[in-house]
Amino acid sequence: MFLTVFFLLVALCTQGGNGKESEEAQRPGHVSVVIVGGTGDLAKKYLWQGFFQLYINQVSSGNTFSFYGGGQSPTEKATPVLFEILKAVSCSNDVSQERCALLKDQFLRLAQYRQLKSLEDYQDLAKHIEQQLQEEGMTEAGRLFYLSVPAFAYADIAEKINSSCRPKSGAWLRVVLEKPFGHDYRSAQVLASQLCSSLTEEEMYRIDHYLGKQVVSKILPFRIQNKKLLDLIWNKHHIERVEIVLKETLDVKGRIAFYDQYGVIRDVLQNHLTEVMTLLTMRLPKNVSRSEEVLGNKLQILSSMLPLGKNQAVIGQYQTYKAEVQQELNKTKDHVSHTPTFAAVLAQIDDAQYEGMPILLISGKMLDERVGYARILFKNDIFCVQNHNNVHCKPKQIVFYFGHGSLQYPAILVSKNLFKPALVDSEWKEVTEHKDISVFGLPISDFYIQTPMEQKEAYAELISHIFFGRKNSFISTENLLASWDLWTPLLSSLASTFPRIYPGGADNADVLDIHLKGKDISYNNEVVIISTDQLGGTSTNGFQVMQGKFRSSEMVSAWAEQLVDKLAADIQEAAEAAIYEGGVFHLALSGGSTPLALFHRLVDHHFTFPWRNTHVWMVDERCVLPTELESNFRSLHDHLLQHVRIPYYNIHPMPVHLNQRLCVEEDGGAQMYEKQLIKLVNSSSFHFVLLGVGYDGHTASLFPGGKVDELGDSLVALTESPSKPHQRMSLTFNVINRARKVALLVMGKGKHELITQLSRVKDNPDKWPVTGVKPTNGNLVWYIDYDALLG
Ligand code: BG6
Repeated sequence: MFLTVFFLLVALCTQGGNGKESEEAQRPGHVSVVIVGGTGDLAKKYLWQGFFQLYINQVSSGNTFSFYGGGQSPTEKATPVLFEILKAVSCSNDVSQERCALLKDQFLRLAQYRQLKSLEDYQDLAKHIEQQLQEEGMTEAGRLFYLSVPAFAYADIAEKINSSCRPKSGAWLRVVLEKPFGHDYRSAQVLASQLCSSLTEEEMYRIDHYLGKQVVSKILPFRIQNKKLLDLIWNKHHIERVEIVLKETLDVKGRIAFYDQYGVIRDVLQNHLTEVMTLLTMRLPKNVSRSEEVLGNKLQILSSMLPLGKNQAVIGQYQTYKAEVQQELNKTKDHVSHTPTFAAVLAQIDDAQYEGMPILLISGKMLDERVGYARILFKNDIFCVQNHNNVHCKPKQIVFYFGHGSLQYPAILVSKNLFKPALVDSEWKEVTEHKDISVFGLPISDFYIQTPMEQKEAYAELISHIFFGRKNSFISTENLLASWDLWTPLLSSLASTFPRIYPGGADNADVLDIHLKGKDISYNNEVVIISTDQLGGTSTNGFQVMQGKFRSSEMVSAWAEQLVDKLAADIQEAAEAAIYEGGVFHLALSGGSTPLALFHRLVDHHFTFPWRNTHVWMVDERCVLPTELESNFRSLHDHLLQHVRIPYYNIHPMPVHLNQRLCVEEDGGAQMYEKQLIKLVNSSSFHFVLLGVGYDGHTASLFPGGKVDELGDSLVALTESPSKPHQRMSLTFNVINRARKVALLVMGKGKHELITQLSRVKDNPDKWPVTGVKPTNGNLVWYIDYDALLG
């Protein structure tokens, strides 16, 4: 839906250069590095160290450097702060102490702080650079601006750089940006077009630090090196599923002002995990260093993803998040945030190679361990009858282990029953000594393992790529927008969804376990737990199952899916009890769209349902032919009856079509149905009646102002609906209220207002027909989903 707009936009962003800048093509000379936000957290933690590393590597390359830490603070105040940070940089083990001290000293002398606030500040910086070049007779190689500032400042800074800091032709300009690059498709598009008015595509380097992680950067080389073997198995026929996971143990205290606006999907899934997914599934480029081809192939995958909707995601929020938000954002005690701190998403690619292959993207805060990996689990069609230790019984998998976790180091693992991979890089080594560690429940001796000889920081790697102009490790405007195009509809559909609350750490136990079913994903356990402080009420161990009262009757409430599960289970329980007692179960079902989810649930999950002894009756019917789409019977047939083993003679459609005409009083259809009912259903008391409620408060086909009390003693009647088709046939309260069990199912946000009203009004069946549902000897249960209950 967004794609057309984005092609227009991309056309606006000039490519610049010849798009083929490469290591070889770079002329040596003087490089000015400017970190805007040079005394900030990121600069302190990673960037200066990364640039020092670059300096060490380039010291004898013919290039010379100046380093500027820029910021809003005045020079006198910020200079000592900057130098404290710079003094903390360190050398790798292969550099001797003396040499390191010398290099550090040089690096510090090449660095200075500059206030970069106004346009004049940027103009002064440019003058300073030019003066220095002139005085020292240096040729300029390029200028690198690293914007380590909040994203709202990007456009303004890019404009200042464009108008005052461009080098003379022949030298390059590179501007590095950190996420967030927008919070949805539109905002990313606006930001991109603002940037495009100051910078060319070639000049922009959007960082995703995952692309600098050693293992992530070796996914493509690994696939290429092992192409011959992988070509045979890298497809839907052989891959069981792909899991891309980043689990973290920390909370987000201290960064809630940012996090609460973004949440885990925008913070991690839209960028880091999506990048990994594209690397795993994209068509292999002929040459990994050709950025155009790499980025183009990534774009192709992003554009062939199946759309992501509510059924492809589950979200969670750790329990103490709410209090942290209230505290950090100064909110009152009743403030509730919907921001997810955990998400699991099921993505699928709509192409011949991967169609139907589940790709799980999972990330969360406050989980049991810190670990990141991408795991390709292959199908195994060998069944081992006895317990022996032959490798062919074991799972076959390839794991790109980004770090942390039980292994503690980055590595690529290949199951020994797959193949022995070649080393992915000359700076990697095979791990042969096997400690007593297991990965995914298997001893690591089950894998061929390779790891980098030296662990390197992602930022240092990316800084080196920026210096060499290797754009394939960065995010292009086109790819960024394609990624938002994928994620935005999901984010919108989840905007008002309550995340499942989880306690955090090991206590999460199975709360976040997920279940895959075709193209859909859901939480695995059916019991909905929700923190008491989120909804109020009493609790056991801080959590409760929502069960309460609505209009003085019993109420069950849960997320839609779990609610439908519970209702299906309750119907089955009633069926089993009735059949045990009298050999038969009489079930009356309503029409409309609300029960469809229940019908699907009964079809998919209740193979043990006693259909053979069940009679299905209709609560109401529209006066149309059964072949029409509006027919309740047609919908019941299409969504339920045709999929289950129910005898034809147990099915009781309402006779709305008699004598080749629809619902004519004299044809006596209502009376026929009533007779049938009296004959077959003991005391005309259905075992279970499923009702819904319409926006106007109608239930069955009993509408407001329909003078229900004028229907006399009849059990079935022709009624009038205010909407089309006007005529209906319906069970009356006489028979509904004789039922043993009546379930009133209400779902969806659209019904929230109605539920609020119903919770307040007195019984008045003429105005609110549903308030006339009052089983005399039976029991009424309201099944209301959270969307309807809480809006
Ligand atoms: C950042 C996210 O981009 O990535 C953080 O903003 C997250 O929320 C971090 O913790 C994870 O990165 P790493 O390198 O620690 O796995």
